[in-house]
Amino acid sequence: MDIEQLRNQVARIETEVQSLLKGVRSLDDVRRVRSRFLGKKGALGKMMGTIRDYTPDLRGQVGQALNTANKAVTALFDEAARRISSSEAAAEATKASAFDPTLPGVRPPLGNLHPVTIVQWKIEHVFQRLGFTVEAGPDMESDYYNFEALNIPADHPARDMQDTFWLTNGLLLRTHTSPVQVRSMEKFGPPIRCIVPGRCFRYETTDASHENTFHQCEGLMIDRNISIANLIAVMKLLLREVFEREVKIRLRPGYFPFVEPGFELDMSCLICDGRGCATCKKSGWLEILPCGMVHPNVLRHGGIDPHEYTGFAFGLGLTRLAMMKYGIHDIRVMNSGDLRALVPPCRLTGPTVWDSEMGRQAC
Ligand code: PHE
Repeated sequence: MDIEQLRNQVARIETEVQSLLKGVRSLDDVRRVRSRFLGKKGALGKMMGTIRDYTPDLRGQVGQALNTANKAVTALFDEAARRISSSEAAAEATKASAFDPTLPGVRPPLGNLHPVTIVQWKIEHVFQRLGFTVEAGPDMESDYYNFEALNIPADHPARDMQDTFWLTNGLLLRTHTSPVQVRSMEKFGPPIRCIVPGRCFRYETTDASHENTFHQCEGLMIDRNISIANLIAVMKLLLREVFEREVKIRLRPGYFPFVEPGFELDMSCLICDGRGCATCKKSGWLEILPCGMVHPNVLRHGGIDPHEYTGFAFGLGLTRLAMMKYGIHDIRVMNSGDLRALVPPCRLTGPTVWDSEMGRQAC
């Protein structure tokens, strides 16, 4: 290589080193690139070894060119190493100053079950102890099980009590869990003790107390000699377990085509212990669930002889019960996905603080 070619080669090396050093991020990287160019086996180092191949009159010039290049390239590496160590030191320094051991720790958000799930599991537990099974039915139901078999024929005005989502396939979204009454009668035959927690749907305009999707828990007990006394005993036990205190109940007449007689069951208000407050509208009672003795027509639809067997049924509003237990004032919170609905639920023993926008705020 003549002296001109050598100078060009050296210039190329310098440019290459410059562009390689732009991409390095650590001192290790600098070291790795450095060994490719400097040192005996590096590109410049090898060229140094060729000085003695030149004629004595050229050796001076070649040596000078290579030395200058060597110095320039070494300076580039030193500069890159300095840049990296100072930015590493700066990063360390910010890390150190960002840690303040006197600040309180960050509390990790606690996960929790949905209030409806908690109440549902509690109820399942109570009823399983009484020998009830937990059943399920389809969300997409037929007209027959949702209405017809429950003593609500097509032209019956009681259909207007439940606003219904009719589907294009001729089925509907069940408006209550009661269809599983007749399904269970068909499936098991008497005697029956079962509960059916599940999702129900109504074609409603939503507001603080109405939702198109909510949860109920049906209850059904059929045997020989079942009476209203059994219904009252089971309901009292259920409410005592759910609210973790003794509750008084009363029955008022209520109309549902699939029970006869039918009742609205009230319990003494938990907030004021029956003395009368804003929550119970000064009455001392809270309407808690509809229930009644299974109508003979419904038993017949389920293939059960009403002369031999009687039974009671109830339809607990699970969503409503969870709202009462945990003091949630707006039903829309329940399906909103708002994680504030999942904070570990408080007991209904003290006053609750509400924000009007989302319902629950703090306990
Ligand atoms: N299925 C009724 C409703 O959703 C409630 C109910 C159930 C009433 C069982 C009586 C007996 O309105």
